[in-house]
Amino acid sequence: MSATGADDTVAPARRKKRRRSRGGLRHRLGAAAVLIAALCTMGGSYAMFATSSGAAGTGSSQADVSAGHQLYSTGCITCHGANLDGVKGNGPSLIGTGAASVYFQVSTGRMPLVAQGAYAPRKEAKYNESQVDQLGAYIESVGGGPGVPTGDLRSSSATIGKGGELFRLNCASCHGTTFKGAPLSAGKQAPSLNKANDKQIYTAMLSGPENMPVFSDNTITPEQKKQIITYIQTLKASKDPGGNGIDRIGPVSEAIVIWVAGVGALMVAILWIGARAR
Ligand code: HEC
Ligand code: HEC
Repeated sequence: MSATGADDTVAPARRKKRRRSRGGLRHRLGAAAVLIAALCTMGGSYAMFATSSGAAGTGSSQADVSAGHQLYSTGCITCHGANLDGVKGNGPSLIGTGAASVYFQVSTGRMPLVAQGAYAPRKEAKYNESQVDQLGAYIESVGGGPGVPTGDLRSSSATIGKGGELFRLNCASCHGTTFKGAPLSAGKQAPSLNKANDKQIYTAMLSGPENMPVFSDNTITPEQKKQIITYIQTLKASKDPGGNGIDRIGPVSEAIVIWVAGVGALMVAILWIGARAR
């Protein structure tokens, strides 16, 4: 850019002529480069978003367990103890909580806890998806408990009415019929469900964090859990089309943002090239 800008001040009349003949090709090459760069950026970001939404879903190995042990020893041990048996005044025992509870707590950013209080809020997750799996593998290998569900967590029987019925019966009293949550007693609260993905909803039911009851598979069967998830996510999607943080349609809405931004960038590039060519 500055290669041509540098001689802007010298001999404008002569330079102008030269620029007409050689500049034309250079501008066209420049425009092509900008176009290719813009397209690559758009394609690249779309691919990134699209793959990041896929579930990991691999069974845990010995390597996962020892990697999880490592993470636990640096991030969790001070509050939950060397043998997962808890530390008085810091954190509860994790014996029997299982990978489901670990997934819920760590993927929603509640753990590691930063400040003791009445309520552990949802935060930016500190560990990535595979680290969460590793922590879960380790904690489950020592203490047992329910595992993380795998595969498609939506109900295939396309009746969201069933899910709605179950939701109103079991969940709405705390989370509200529109999922926006509500305060509970003693400074606790039932949070909004708007950011929760399928797996977080499932593991919330399996683990019953804080005041939330555990909904074991005897109370609400796995198929019913899927119906509830399908109901929540379908309603969220229809209430807020293209909103962020919605697991299934996330990549689609992000792609639209990228398209808009990309087309915007292209238009800026075209205007810029046009202005320079004049
Ligand atoms: C500063 C202390 C602290 C740290 C660090 C911490 N926790 Fe916790 N953890 C707590 C407390 C307190 C609770 C109980 C309160 C709650 O559930 O909100 C808890 C609850 C949990 C639960 C739910 C237990 C149950 O009965 O379902 C899990 C699982 C958990 N922690 C995992 C972890 C993991 C994994 C880490 C490390 C990445 C971690 N915690 C780091 C204090 C801590
Ligand atoms: C007695 C009140 C109560 C009932 C009933 C209840 N929950 Fe909860 N729920 C809570 C509380 C409290 C939390 C927050 C726990 C925490 O922060 O550790 C929570 C958290 C959640 C979360 C995590 C949201 C997020 O993104 O942070 C999900 C998902 C969830 N509940 C789903 C459900 C579903 C589905 C049902 C019905 C099957 C249900 N809950 C029934 C009280 C309840």
